[in-house]
Amino acid sequence: MTAPLKHSDSTIVDVALEDRAYDIVIGRDVLDSLGARIAALRPGARTAIVTDQTVAKHWLDKTEASLTSAGISTSRIVVGEGEGSKTWDSLAKVSEALIAAKIERNDLVIALGGGVVGDLAGFAAAILRRGVDFVQVPTSLLAQVDSSVGGKTGINSPQGKNLLGAFHQPLLVIADTAVLDTLSPRQFRAGYAEVAKYGVLGDAAFFGWLEKNHGEVFKGGAAREHAIATSCRAKAAIVARDERETGDRALLNLGHTFGHALEAATGFSDRLFHGEGVAIGMVLAAEFSASLGMIPQADAARVKRHLADVGLPTHLQDIAGFAQEGLADADALMALMAQDKKVRRGKLTFILLQAIGRAVIARDVDPSGVHDFLQVKLKSKT
Ligand SMILES: NC(=O)c1ccc[n+]([C@@H]2O[C@H](COP(=O)([O-])OP(=O)(O)OC[C@H]3O[C@@H](n4cnc5c(N)ncnc54)[C@H](O)[C@@H]3O)[C@@H](O)[C@H]2O)c1
Ligand SMILES: [Zn+2]
Repeated sequence: MTAPLKHSDSTIVDVALEDRAYDIVIGRDVLDSLGARIAALRPGARTAIVTDQTVAKHWLDKTEASLTSAGISTSRIVVGEGEGSKTWDSLAKVSEALIAAKIERNDLVIALGGGVVGDLAGFAAAILRRGVDFVQVPTSLLAQVDSSVGGKTGINSPQGKNLLGAFHQPLLVIADTAVLDTLSPRQFRAGYAEVAKYGVLGDAAFFGWLEKNHGEVFKGGAAREHAIATSCRAKAAIVARDERETGDRALLNLGHTFGHALEAATGFSDRLFHGEGVAIGMVLAAEFSASLGMIPQADAARVKRHLADVGLPTHLQDIAGFAQEGLADADALMALMAQDKKVRRGKLTFILLQAIGRAVIARDVDPSGVHDFLQVKLKSKT
């Protein structure tokens, strides 16, 4: 982890899921190798690229060029950008377009985009002709380190996020770190919260490395590739142990129980991106762990300092509009957490810390303790 960084052509992380194992190829300009890799994996397959308008503008031509230069036939399906595309309506449109593009059982769907496109196209592939393979080409940092790996796909219901979906592992993931150069700095930062999460939940040395090297990760180059590869390795290891989230995979939800409640309280709007909610949620999880005596206060402060150093929000009060519109009171936040999938028979499941680098699943957290903690946090300035 602390070995000197050399710029190599690419790093390959293996997701060890037996007959559904696949590679995550990470590096600058690895998108150029997409066509050749697909030709080798699935000779003669047709492809259809699902992407969003913004990503199409920057990266669709390059993606198509890689496919056509390898002799692969392809077509394009472009959806609107953002969470609004994870709907029944978009799923219907994408699915019908895939049928119209004559994508058959041995052909491939290519998801070119952030987590929204990956979840939508992956789900469409999962149900098309009872399951067609797909390739993830994640273009946001969040998608490269999180959503493109592990096989969760799906859309939102009017009744809640990600309530409809399927486990469907990709055949290949191509994470081109150069593609992130066109991502907005705020989106990059939000994705970085998930990178830091892997350090906080399971790898103290990686967290320490990030504290020193985050500037280089933001700039690009070898440090960025190293951070993405380390994150993917961490996720791949957990997914290989617990593909369907019956145990350890829940550790990946560190910061997410609080974070989702904050996203819901701000109406899933631009006031708070997912990763920003996770950053605040991780700080709350660390501080709550400290309040229970599980970790020293200084460790919680260290998590908070690092996230603040990269410019992520770390306080409830950092949420846009907090001073004017407020957020929600502790009761409302508790109600939002109770709606989350992480509730079992009245008790809340939280991911708490025993140390930086050692998260644990706490299934029996007393709701009144959380309520009182939130009440204090909603009033405090630190
Ligand atoms: N399946 C999973 O395991 C999993 C895990 C985490 C999150 N998710 C899902 O992922 C989604 C969030 O993903 P996201 O943050 O990538 O959102 P997103 O897909 O909406 O992308 C964020 C924005 O960045 C733009 N964008 C993406 N790549 C770009 C690039 N290279 N250059 C310029 N603009 C670019 C997009 O057009 C969009 O406007 C949520 O729906 C969430 O539920 C899924
Ligand atoms: Zn997340």
